[in-house]
Amino acid sequence: MALTSQKQDFLFDNPPERKGTDSLKWARYAGHDVIPMWVADMDFPSPPAVLEALKKRVEHGVFGYAAAPPQAAEAVCRWFQTRYGWGIQKEWIVWLPGLVCGLNAVCRAFAEADEEITVLPPVYPPFLTAPVYSGRRLLRCPLRKTPDRYKIDFERLEQTISPTTRILLFCHPHNPVGRIWERAELEKLAELCLRKNLLLCSDEIHADLILDETSRHIPTASLSEEIAQQSITLASPSKTFNLPGLGCAYAVIPNIELRHRFLRTMRGIVPHVGPLGYTACIAAYREGAEWLDSLLKYLRANRDLLCQTINSLPGLSVTAPQATYLAWIDCRGLGLSNPAEFFEAAGVGLSDGAEFEGPGYVRLNFACPQSRLQEALHRIQKAVSNHTL
Ligand SMILES: Cc1ncc(COP(=O)(O)O)c(C=O)c1O
Repeated sequence: MALTSQKQDFLFDNPPERKGTDSLKWARYAGHDVIPMWVADMDFPSPPAVLEALKKRVEHGVFGYAAAPPQAAEAVCRWFQTRYGWGIQKEWIVWLPGLVCGLNAVCRAFAEADEEITVLPPVYPPFLTAPVYSGRRLLRCPLRKTPDRYKIDFERLEQTISPTTRILLFCHPHNPVGRIWERAELEKLAELCLRKNLLLCSDEIHADLILDETSRHIPTASLSEEIAQQSITLASPSKTFNLPGLGCAYAVIPNIELRHRFLRTMRGIVPHVGPLGYTACIAAYREGAEWLDSLLKYLRANRDLLCQTINSLPGLSVTAPQATYLAWIDCRGLGLSNPAEFFEAAGVGLSDGAEFEGPGYVRLNFACPQSRLQEALHRIQKAVSNHTL
């Protein structure tokens, strides 16, 4: 009962209409009966405390260049300390308008032209493009799919890395496969990076979206002082509190030389965070925890409904994501050349797995009201049964 009324307060069941607003996700299908479930933002409004803080800031009426308020770094440090037991120092934080530009800046700062950057596909497409855009070489070490989960292929990773490999771009938790990497896996990876002298760039944007109640997120850099000194953590309140349009993210770089090198690469290219981004970040980290608890309950119920339905359909399968609001659906059993196109024609707009280097898969964003998810699943069900008739 308490949960139901809380849910209503937070508008998970009845969020505002996004059709006809400035939403990238919804604009793609303007004028078409397609439910957009692709790009990774949520259809829910941000926590009430964030909306209040933004209103107050807007009422001030002046939106000049912002200097990072000390409260923002304090809020980040407190968040990491209380949730993950990682003691970040304020000076380690470098503010960014987004993680993707952080990934690109890392590639430019820490590898020379023609040196190599390793990724573990299938993975969020900017991991695949950032090394290439930067004129660096992309090395792939695909994740290994086992019956119950994806795993890092450590043997292959050892063989893939060469003396001119400089960086490992790591997604933790992993988009799109939804893995929370465990301590033993992280320790093995950190040991390998230290031994091979690779910079470990850990994108932890989905860290707070833990659906598996028996697992915890462990920040990669919190494992040891050694790996902290050889790593860059990228994070943001943007996925957790649905703020990606406000452009507030950060890199945590404990090593001062790495930090200065990163800052030099950003100079004149990477824009500053705006005042609304800082305002939202401070309010979200200070006052958003209760909202986040309710969000996670809602997302867990959506995930369970989705997995149950998808796994009951012939030709489709999905492993329940341990984290994120993204489901990585294996459609290879349907024998389609382009499953994303097939489902789009059936009225559900998904991300094409090929963009993540996972052809035959689609990625479904289930951060929406449950009634909308039900309708999408109904459309998927109908399309599959017509196809397999
Ligand atoms: C792993 C990962 N990193 C980064 C981003 C995007 O970050 P930003 O919008 O801050 O550039 C996303 C968005 O989906 C993501 O999934």
